[in-house]
Amino acid sequence: MALAQFIHAPEFEGKEKHVPDIALSTSDLGTVVTIQVGKEVVHPTTKEHHIEWVKVFGETQEGKFVEIGELNFGRGTAFPRGSLVIKKEEYKSLTALSYCNLHGVWDNSLAL
Ligand SMILES: [Fe+2]
Repeated sequence: MALAQFIHAPEFEGKEKHVPDIALSTSDLGTVVTIQVGKEVVHPTTKEHHIEWVKVFGETQEGKFVEIGELNFGRGTAFPRGSLVIKKEEYKSLTALSYCNLHGVWDNSLAL
């Protein structure tokens, strides 16, 4: 049983409320990577139905797949949005995974 068979790609869901949207902006430290689960419709945040975590990975310029960071939202206690700051020039692409307690793992990627 491979993990990949349980990961839902963005095209799996039309309204995209589970897909971790990846947005970039700049700051004094570097490039801010903001992840929000659900771009147009933010995922529910209740004790019964919520996003527990987001993990962000990067493909380095050398072709390695590395973990960049993790955001934890509790169990319905925080809206599923958060940011990390990276050195953008070190990566070719970013991938985010989100985990809904009812609907599983979703992914999205952004070429840099
Ligand atoms: Fe869900």
